[in-house]
Amino acid sequence: MSRKVTKAIFPVAGLGTRFLPATKSIPKEIMTLVDRPLIQYAIDEARAAGIKEFIFVTSRGKGALEDYFDHAHELESNLKKANKTELLDILRSTNMDSGAIAYIRQHKALGLGHAVWCARRLVGNEPFAVILTDDVIMGEPPCLQQMIEAYQETGGSMVATMEVPSEKTKAYGVLDIAEDMGAIVRARGMVEKPKENPPSNLAVIGRYILAPSVMQNLNKLKQGSGGEIQLTDAIADEIEEGRDVFGLRFRGERFDCGSKAGFLQATVAFGLARDDLKHEFGEYLEDIMSMRKAAE
Ligand code: UTP
Repeated sequence: MSRKVTKAIFPVAGLGTRFLPATKSIPKEIMTLVDRPLIQYAIDEARAAGIKEFIFVTSRGKGALEDYFDHAHELESNLKKANKTELLDILRSTNMDSGAIAYIRQHKALGLGHAVWCARRLVGNEPFAVILTDDVIMGEPPCLQQMIEAYQETGGSMVATMEVPSEKTKAYGVLDIAEDMGAIVRARGMVEKPKENPPSNLAVIGRYILAPSVMQNLNKLKQGSGGEIQLTDAIADEIEEGRDVFGLRFRGERFDCGSKAGFLQATVAFGLARDDLKHEFGEYLEDIMSMRKAAE
């Protein structure tokens, strides 16, 4: 099996209820972190990792997301006429090559596993990446690139992981570790949101490189399940069937932009990382922190 990963699935069909009322009319993925929508961060990370085909699993009401990747001819020619080359470069960086993007509909929000399964025909018999745009990661090299480099050594399937305190493991899929090799661990199992006795503190976050057999596992789950179809279950089945699943402790910081607190934290971190904003924004943050302290 080739270890070249050129296709990535972006499941963006969720309802985004935690951001209502904003998500009543805007897809969550279009929400803006500093000046770029969440989806742009995910696309940039995928491109840096060598992804060539971008598969979006969408749903009703996600039209703005499809429009975002169209060439904005009028805007481009206005910027060109006005000689605004910097803005033109920013705008052009969002353009996608013809045929590089495919959209598939998930007709019902039946879970992340189901959303990934909807892309099975586009993925075919190749390893593929899955990127959850809610998880924005600040890392150098970008997280997916770190994973692809690790995957070249290991093969199998690979999930991105981070250490979390024991009391937080119940919010994540958690790895049961068979062998700890430092940055890479081999998994013995995977438990979705353990209520008690988590098998480790290694939580799975929204980046995956998956063997095509995961699609076949999803196929079986689909036939057997009445409720949500979990991606975690299909990955855990890989281990049960004797195939390798690895976790990578990636280098970087992950922000949960699917939650309000996480989105605000990401706004601060990405704002402070920008040369054009860090002074003014940093001073403002220092001022409000000292005002808060003085009021205590
Ligand atoms: P979430 O659990 O964050 O759900 O999905 P959500 O609907 O986006 O948001 P809330 O919880 O209602 O606020 C994690 C990822 O899986 C995708 C989502 O779009 C998001 O990227 N997803 C989830 C689907 O594509 N389809 C589904 O049926 C469920």
